[in-house]
Formats: sequence, C-alpha cells, structure tokens
Amino acid sequence: MSNAGTGLKGVVLDDTRIALVDGEQGKLVYRGYNIHDLAQHATFEEVSYLLLYGALPTRAQLAGFDRQLKAGRAIPEQVVEIIERVKAAHPMDILRTAVSAAVALDENSHEATVEVGLPAGVRLIAQVATVVATMHRIRNGLEPVPPREDLSHAANFLYMMFGKEPSPEDAKIIDLDLVLHAEHSSNASTFAARVAAGTAADLGSAIVAAIATLKGPLHGGAAEAVQKTVEEIGDPERAIEYIKDKIEAGEKVMGFGHRVYKTEDPRGAELRDVARDLGHKLGNDRWFQILQEIERAMEPYRAKGIYPNVDFYAGAVYSLLGIPEEQFIPMFAVGRMPGWVAHVLEQYEDNVLIRPLLEYTGPRHLRYVPIEQRT
Ligand SMILES: CC(C)(COP(=O)(O)OP(=O)(O)OC[C@H]1O[C@@H](n2cnc3c(N)ncnc32)[C@H](O)[C@@H]1OP(=O)(O)O)[C@@H](O)C(=O)NCCC(=O)NCCS
Repeated sequence: MSNAGTGLKGVVLDDTRIALVDGEQGKLVYRGYNIHDLAQHATFEEVSYLLLYGALPTRAQLAGFDRQLKAGRAIPEQVVEIIERVKAAHPMDILRTAVSAAVALDENSHEATVEVGLPAGVRLIAQVATVVATMHRIRNGLEPVPPREDLSHAANFLYMMFGKEPSPEDAKIIDLDLVLHAEHSSNASTFAARVAAGTAADLGSAIVAAIATLKGPLHGGAAEAVQKTVEEIGDPERAIEYIKDKIEAGEKVMGFGHRVYKTEDPRGAELRDVARDLGHKLGNDRWFQILQEIERAMEPYRAKGIYPNVDFYAGAVYSLLGIPEEQFIPMFAVGRMPGWVAHVLEQYEDNVLIRPLLEYTGPRHLRYVPIEQRT
C-alpha cells in the first residue's frame, strides 16, 4: 500500500507524559491537568514549571523558578545588534536568527543532557519573549525596552513591546493566551525539536529547528491569516458570501480544521469569550461579529470534523491588544517555548535516534550517461 501524502497522519511516534490531545473529545491535558482548569487558575509561570518538572510547584518552588526566569530575561548586546542587522527580514527569520545567536553565545548550554538543557531551557523561555519584543521595537524605529524584574512574564512582555506597564486585565489575557499555547504534543514544530534532540543535538539547536518549523502558514501562521480575512470581510453581513466563495474556489478557510481535533479545539473555546469581551470593552464588536458569522457559515462542515481551532480567535485578541499581525507567529513561539523545552528534555531522558523510512518510488537501474552524450 502506498504511503504517499499521508503526512504521518495517525502514526504514534513514542510515549509521552507531557500532554494528551484527545481529538475525538476535544480534550487537552497538560501533565494530567485539563486545559480549562489551568486556563482558569494557573499562570504561565506555573504552567511552565508543570510542563518542565511534571508537577505543579509549591509556593517556594514557584518563587525559585520565577527568579530563574527573571534572571534570564536580558539578551546579550550582540543579539540586539544581530536583530538590528536583519530587521527587514520576516519576523520568524529574525526570531530564528536571534535565538540561534543567543544559544551560540550561551556557553553553558551546549551539552545534550537534562542537567544542562533544563536551566538553558528556562533561560530561553525568558529570552524568546525579550527577542520578540526587541524585534518589534527595532522594526518600528523604537529603542528596545529592557525587561523589568517586578513584572510577570506576560506583563513584562507587554511592557517590553509597548514601553508602558500594561493593565492587569491585558496582562491576564496574554497570560491566558500563553497558557493555551504552551504545549500541544507532537505538533510539527515539537516533532522537529524532538528529531533534533534525538540526534543528541543541544537544546538550543532543537529550539531553533522548532522555530523554523513553526514559520509555515499551516502551523503558526493561521492567526495572522484569520485576522486578514476579518479585515477583508469588513462587514458581518458579507461574511457568509465571502466564505461560500472561498469554499467554492477550493480554498481552505484559515482558523478551521486540525490534524488531531475533529471537534471543537478547547483552546479556541477559551479565547472566544476573551475576544468578545475585549472587543466590547474597546468599542469594537465588529470583529467578533464577523468571526461569529464565519463560524456560522462553516457550520455545515462540522459533519466533516472541521471546527474552529486555537488560531481562529487569537488574531482578534492580539489585534485588539495592539500587537501587529506580523508578530502573531512569534507570539505563538513565546507561548510554545515550555512545551518545546519539555519535549527536548523528555527525548534526552530515554533517547533513541528518530529516523523513519521513505518508500522509494523512483527508477532503480539507470546507467550513468557521460555529460557529452546527454540530450
Ligand atoms: C490544519 C490543517 C492543515 C489540517 O489538515 P489535515 O489534517 O491534513 O486535514 P485534511 O486536509 O485531511 O482535511 C480533511 C478535509 O477537510 C477539508 N478541510 C480541512 N481544513 C479545512 C479548512 N480550514 N477549510 C476548508 N476545508 C478544510 C479538507 O480539504 C479535506 O477535504 P476533503 O476530504 O474533501 O479532501 C487544515 O485543516 C488547514 O489547512 N487548516 C487551515 C490552516 C489552519 O487554520 N491552521 C492552524 C492549525 S492549528
């Protein structure tokens, strides 16, 4: 039987204790805890600790972890210079290049072990947020804003982006968004990170592989595409017609469908209310109304297992908070960092090289033809 075009669909790669994604029930569990429970009660720092260490932290453990994260926030001056030099590139190219440089400069990160990878991973979780905010500032001709140690990860990220302390409500929304994006089992970027870690490459190299893989529109780019769609539609009354045209043209509707979820993505459900309430608070109900109309237009496709995914409402939330569309994929990376690190460490714990096969379907018995005889 041919394996052509299956994209490893349904193939189980290995065991994991990090997360469960139940595509039939629309259930996501981090280390035993349901995502809805964590979304309601836990901070990004707690969830990061949970993913890395396998259990929720005590107060003292969380305080120690938080100190470690805060100590890791600053990025070396050379990394800022590199961002300056490549500032005109795609933001994901800038992020990948800057993280690669940060890793190369971190002399204590180059061993492919849990002992070295864990503290290096915590530093990178902190630094990636700083890199994203720094690139945003530099691309807009603004001075980078150094991190502050008295703010949470989410609040400090917004502070470094916009140069002013965010309201507790805005910081809470970003914190929730980061929690929802923190981990998702063997998605394409995490798979790439595990493949790199499986060769006994250091954690930083594995994270760079993950960032490279996240760049593609089928993975990290959907939130940006959804927001562009919303702005293009412009008026809720145009939504149904627009979607009909898209489907008839054989195009995929961004923010819908998922390789694993064949029912509602639980992360999308969490962001729906946030998008509605934030839009209402800011006097912009239109985007949410358009999103609702798109959802309605897509209802017939539920029978095929096509439901809104996490990216469907994320774009509107980011835009309402003033985060530009070009930073949506980098935002995804800020959130996914603890998941990537946890998977690299899990791979190191019981490592086996990941090396699947390809079924060769080309010719087998051609004879070499000297160049002057080729036509
Ligand atoms: C995420 C995605 C790549 C998953 O792809 P997949 O697991 O390979 O799913 P399939 O392409 O096999 O989908 C099954 C069917 O649903 C259709 N479908 C899937 N997603 C669709 C979408 N967003 N809009 C319209 N139709 C869609 C496919 O065309 C296919 O139809 P067919 O059976 O008539 O050929 C795909 O749903 C997609 O491209 N979505 C839009 C991008 C996006 O939002 N990505 C973010 C994911 S979190």
